[in-house]
Amino acid sequence: MKSKVYIETFGCQMNVADTERAATGLRKAGYELTASAEAADVVLLNTCSVRERAERKVFRRIGEIRNEAKRAGRQKKPLIGVMGCVAQLEGETIFQNSPAVDLIIGTRATDRIPSLIERARGGEAAVIDLDERQEGEVWDVSPAERRSPYVAFVPIIEGCNKFCSFCIVPYSRGREKSRNALEIVNEVQRLRSLGYKEIHLIGQNVNSYRPKSQEGLERYSGATAFSRLLRAVADTGMQRIKFTTSFPRDFHTDIVSALEECPNLCDWIHLPVQSGSDRILKAMRRGHNSEDYLRRIDAIRSSKRRLSLTSDIIVGFPGESEEDFENTMRLVRACEYDGLFIFKYSQRAGTPAATLADVVPEAEKKARFIALEGLQESMQSKIYNSYVGRTVSILVEKESARSSEDMTGHSTCHKVVNFRSRKSQPGEIVDVLISQAKPYSLYGELMSKQAN
Ligand code: 5AD
Ligand code: SF4
Repeated sequence: MKSKVYIETFGCQMNVADTERAATGLRKAGYELTASAEAADVVLLNTCSVRERAERKVFRRIGEIRNEAKRAGRQKKPLIGVMGCVAQLEGETIFQNSPAVDLIIGTRATDRIPSLIERARGGEAAVIDLDERQEGEVWDVSPAERRSPYVAFVPIIEGCNKFCSFCIVPYSRGREKSRNALEIVNEVQRLRSLGYKEIHLIGQNVNSYRPKSQEGLERYSGATAFSRLLRAVADTGMQRIKFTTSFPRDFHTDIVSALEECPNLCDWIHLPVQSGSDRILKAMRRGHNSEDYLRRIDAIRSSKRRLSLTSDIIVGFPGESEEDFENTMRLVRACEYDGLFIFKYSQRAGTPAATLADVVPEAEKKARFIALEGLQESMQSKIYNSYVGRTVSILVEKESARSSEDMTGHSTCHKVVNFRSRKSQPGEIVDVLISQAKPYSLYGELMSKQAN
């Protein structure tokens, strides 16, 4: 009988994509993938360490899995492996702190998982691989392992060279490494022929894309390799193309031109600012100030297309004063974001900011979080209400969790839209007339199905 592997994924889209890649390799090596930890011979946790809370969750899950196996009276406990960012950062110490763990798989060891499991099954204790990806390894994901049959994540760049002072990612994921453009374009073409309707080009900083060769981009113009890639990917005819995350300093306005030229490049840009205070941006080592950022926003806002804009902000970075926070509030008012992810600063050991004094008290962080959330909700409500009476194109994803008579999906501008329809099927692209704005979603009626 084939051994069964269960993978549980935490964190960002890069982890989701890496889980899909791991599953592809495991299946090729003769393993079966299962959707339940209880039935598995091997449990892998693909972990996130961007904030302390995410990291704590992993250790809680290891305990739960071990206890479940004991309670179920399983003769042979499953092998437990930790992969992803926590594995890469903590390495050997995980074995010391969590003796139930058998395997530690770093962020670049994905393609070696089958042989690492074999070693652990063969009786080797404490198997660990924190090495780099090897020459010739390619991002290979079988459609069977993808989370959705309609929306696919396509990594274009791994790692990060930016070293923002608060962030652990450059340490957990290593230096920026761009995938070959021809390989990306071929993958998108394949996804299209398999019936995928939407792809997300993903990476910590997609617009820092810098492939070693121009292969696949020769026929496309653009001020940067990324804007040329956007045009090349748009040329595949894939119906909807989204990309995330963009980094302000590398955000060339030619991206906006590409979005204006190619209707299948979606009208959504995620451009995290992190703070509205120049003093804090400097301490964060972001490489941009608020004026640089607002110049990009101006270019986005003066586009012929209405582009939806979202951002990330950290409140309570060390030394953030009332005045710094006020500057963040002011910037948020000016940017009119369609959506905002707000995070309370979480100290990450090993990052430059971890040594900074002048820590903002937890209660203050919380108060700022609530104030910023309140401001964003009121601004967002205006934007969401402006959609009432308009028709938007939706990729139907599934039945709504609230009502079996409703379906749910995303607009091209990446808003959640629920709508009444007994006729539409997941995977279809439909027009929906918006009748109601909720705080974080839109509601409407099915108008017509588009040619898919
Ligand atoms: N504390 C809080 N938020 C963080 N982020 C990254 N590192 C930290 C940290 N140490 C946030 C940033 C980033 C998002 C993915 O997570 O806002 O854009
Ligand atoms: Fe972290 Fe900054 Fe890199 Fe984003 S750009 S992953 S915030 S270091």
